[in-house]
Amino acid sequence: MNRSRLLLILACLVAAAGLGYLVLRGGPPGGQPARVAGPASVGGPFTLVDQDGRKVDQRLLKGKWTAVFFGFTYCPDVCPMTLQTLAAAQDQLGPKAKDLQFVFISVDPARDTPAQLKTYLSAEVFPKGVIGLTGTPEQVAGATRAYRAYAQKEGEGADYVVNHTSAVYLMDPKGRFDRVLAYSLTPDEIARQISAAMRDGPKPG
Ligand code: NI
Repeated sequence: MNRSRLLLILACLVAAAGLGYLVLRGGPPGGQPARVAGPASVGGPFTLVDQDGRKVDQRLLKGKWTAVFFGFTYCPDVCPMTLQTLAAAQDQLGPKAKDLQFVFISVDPARDTPAQLKTYLSAEVFPKGVIGLTGTPEQVAGATRAYRAYAQKEGEGADYVVNHTSAVYLMDPKGRFDRVLAYSLTPDEIARQISAAMRDGPKPG
């Protein structure tokens, strides 16, 4: 294990711990009064561009359950693993998979052009129909903030990486946060949790 990979793993753990803290608190320290896993605590407005060059915003999430996650196409391990795990979960969901969409938000807009996202996400081993989003650095930073996600460039030159949140955010068909699907979950467990969320329906409020 080289140093940058170790740092990547550490960064993911720190980000996951931070997210867990925020979800449990329902807000940043000193912000709104504490509240348990409030639906408004993760997510919100964003403006980005999809892999076909179309401008999209948070209305993209309306009408379907959505697995939102952050990454970049040059990611050596976390992103390909997440995408393959989600592909297996998509298979296991069977007919229910038609009510679920996948949204991959790039944290590397300098390299992840719409065309680059389109090529990357068309890989056979990834879920079918993943929507890839990118934008200006400001737009990407805004989306990352809205989801309380973490992204930090590391390294110089052509071989830099972007350490990033590894969790998947499950959003309900109203575009509100439902739950976090941790990176450590198996495809079985992800499919089970998504099925349970679909069965229970969007949380009230
Ligand atoms: Ni990644």
